[in-house]
Amino acid sequence: MNLSLIYLFSLITFTLSSPIKLQKRNSRWDYSSDDIYGVNIGGWLVLEPYITPSLFDAFGGEDSTKPVDEYHFTQYYGKDNAEKVLQNHWSTFMTEDDFELMSQYGLNFVRIPIGYWAFELLDNDPYVQGQVEYLNKALKWCAKYNLKAWIDLHGVPGSQNGFDNSGLRDTLTWQNDQKNIDVTVSVLKTIAENYSTDEYKDVVIGIELVNEPIGHDLDETKLEDYYNQGYDIIRENGDVPVIIHDAFYQLDHHWDNILNTQIDPNIWDVIVDHHHYQIFSVDELKRDIDDHVKVACNLGWQEANEYHYNVVGEWTAALTDCAKWLNGVNRGARWDATFQNDYAIGTCDHLFTADYSYFQDESVRSMYRKYVEAQMDAYTHSKVMGWIFWCWKTENLIEWDFKQLVSLNIIPQPLTSREYYNQCGYVTY
Ligand SMILES: *[C@@H]1O[C@H](CO)[C@@H](O)[C@H](O)[C@H]1NC(C)=O
Repeated sequence: MNLSLIYLFSLITFTLSSPIKLQKRNSRWDYSSDDIYGVNIGGWLVLEPYITPSLFDAFGGEDSTKPVDEYHFTQYYGKDNAEKVLQNHWSTFMTEDDFELMSQYGLNFVRIPIGYWAFELLDNDPYVQGQVEYLNKALKWCAKYNLKAWIDLHGVPGSQNGFDNSGLRDTLTWQNDQKNIDVTVSVLKTIAENYSTDEYKDVVIGIELVNEPIGHDLDETKLEDYYNQGYDIIRENGDVPVIIHDAFYQLDHHWDNILNTQIDPNIWDVIVDHHHYQIFSVDELKRDIDDHVKVACNLGWQEANEYHYNVVGEWTAALTDCAKWLNGVNRGARWDATFQNDYAIGTCDHLFTADYSYFQDESVRSMYRKYVEAQMDAYTHSKVMGWIFWCWKTENLIEWDFKQLVSLNIIPQPLTSREYYNQCGYVTY
């Protein structure tokens, strides 16, 4: 019998004899039974122009002259000024009150994006440091208010996706230079060493190897190599669950055979992170609310059948791409035909900035509520072990702002309350 037949045979018997305990359990979090209700702290330790536009507007002038990401933001200011501005941002944007409020809203989790530059700089990087102190504070507040956390490596050297939220927009050179991979691995080692300790045992229930690597434009073998290497680094340092993003390969069981306990019994506690937005193409934007709901529910069905337990690590209430600079500084929206689209689906008048009264209109409010509830149901279904809303707060974007959506009664309180029952055909609460 050759090796692959043995694997196949053991796979079949294993599947028959143990339908549920696919992964070794540890004391941090049981991903086979406990659902995550979480928020992302977007725009804090990694800048995103659309979440905090005032920081980028401070440069004045035309949008076309403004920095488009944190790399250029720090470069434009120079280290000293950048450090001043960012220290102020880090110490005011998130405070202990935020964590207390999360807990009051029934959340049990936060995902905290952080860039490699918080830990290590490349030669000539304009980035400034100081984020780690705030990460540590956040984790302490999590402990105090009974919240669990993932540390999410959101930007790696050269950028893994070219998004502004990787720190460096319109660049995709992570895999082009071994030095970039080496720094990534070194940073991951620091994170694994420093956050696997007993001090964080009750808080850190995941380290995410890299956020949103853009699979179709990357070398897949190199990405898998990095995931395998990242797994080993985390295991060498302890028992923190390992989070791998799906690299936008969301269907066809793409990740089933990667870091799979049935193939390699030494592997355990690997969780796949899926991100679901329905607004970054014209086809998705054109869906009516019932189609949006149907798509979300179908994702819940599909991901329920994956090998790995999985979590929807990013999703939103947004039904448009109208938020100013969502698509990047100096770019408009597909919704109103000001970006990559030559006919308008609608207007962005009420949506570019916070028009609170628009969202109180009952037909608008209930449409958003319906979509939010469907996603909450879909993403706590079977092996889909929870949801992490993007994001906790923004300067003024209601569609993206958990806090404001709660106060508008669009995000339910308690989280399990429903105005629309059983939209997905499976009851999850
Ligand atoms: C990691 O932990 C070591 C040992 O406590 C400490 O010296 C170092 O500053 C920490 N590094 C980071 C980035 O937190």
